[in-house]
Amino acid sequence: MAIDLRSDTVTKPSEAMRAAMASAEVGDDVYGDDPTVNSLEERVAAMFGHQAGLFTPTGSLANQLAIRALVKPGEELLVETRSHIVRAELGAAATFSGITTRTWPSTDGLLKADDALAIAHENAGPYLVSTKAIAVENTHNFGGGTVQPIDEIAKLSSAAHARGIAMHLDGARIWNAHVASGVSCAEYGKHFDTISVCLSKGLGAPIGSVMLSTKERVAEARIWRKRYGAGMRQVGIIAAAAHYALDNNIARLAEDHARAKKIATALAAIDSSLVDPSKVHTNIVGLELSKIGITAAELTSRCKDAGLWISALGPHYARLVTHLDFDDAQCDQSIEILKRALVVK
Ligand SMILES: Cc1ncc(COP(=O)(O)O)c(C=O)c1O
Repeated sequence: MAIDLRSDTVTKPSEAMRAAMASAEVGDDVYGDDPTVNSLEERVAAMFGHQAGLFTPTGSLANQLAIRALVKPGEELLVETRSHIVRAELGAAATFSGITTRTWPSTDGLLKADDALAIAHENAGPYLVSTKAIAVENTHNFGGGTVQPIDEIAKLSSAAHARGIAMHLDGARIWNAHVASGVSCAEYGKHFDTISVCLSKGLGAPIGSVMLSTKERVAEARIWRKRYGAGMRQVGIIAAAAHYALDNNIARLAEDHARAKKIATALAAIDSSLVDPSKVHTNIVGLELSKIGITAAELTSRCKDAGLWISALGPHYARLVTHLDFDDAQCDQSIEILKRALVVK
């Protein structure tokens, strides 16, 4: 069977997770009657020190509900250039919420508070767009799984708030950041007005994200979730998988990180321009192919022929993501396949 490192979303629920789903207590969540969903929302909110949570089918929806709670039509959200909100949510902020986005560039997605603050323009008057919120992605997906330094987050948050600008955390992989840095979820949580977290990435649930904020913002987001057509019924079946993931799959993310580092170290030994292992903080390995003489599409296709699936995210940029369904033996096998595929023919 092929080894699939395209994303950490490709995992399949384990037997134990399926058993937890099968025995979940459920109710109609549109009426607020699903106890498993309610306890999940409360649980995740408590972990991050927020008042309330809202279960959503996807991380994109959790992001979009959060940012629309902070930014009105015609106002501005600042994000890093390669962040998921601006690169991979298909213009949702503009399409659904009339939100303007402006971006600051970074190296490897790494947050530098001053870069974001330099382009912020609150109360911009009648001619320019006013900045209402700043979003931070942690870990940064297209930056290569980069963990954002807590000092920079704290600096940005306090300076932004002092200027009346709100903060959103795209924490699709905040669990990876927490495990890699040792910073608690509550410590991350206190710097943000809204947060989105995913249960269906490294944690291995089949579906599900949670948006977090104040009771008022979450109540408003609940209305918008329904308006978007994402009010769900006996969805405790899925929330049970999320509970299972929180109980069992957080600490083990360290294994994914170690395997990603092992791959990066082996490939850097072939050519140091491919990847810098010290920058592989979590479960994502970005491969820079410009100096190797092979395109990302060629590498992806050669790997696929040899039984390894990876992603081509740019003409010369490929990505591998380690996860729960990837073990040590597959890690060694992947390294061998990659070594062979990287030889310029
Ligand atoms: C950083 C980040 N944010 C948000 C999302 C969106 O999650 P979903 O695919 O569940 O909409 C992703 C998905 O990969 C992501 O990587």
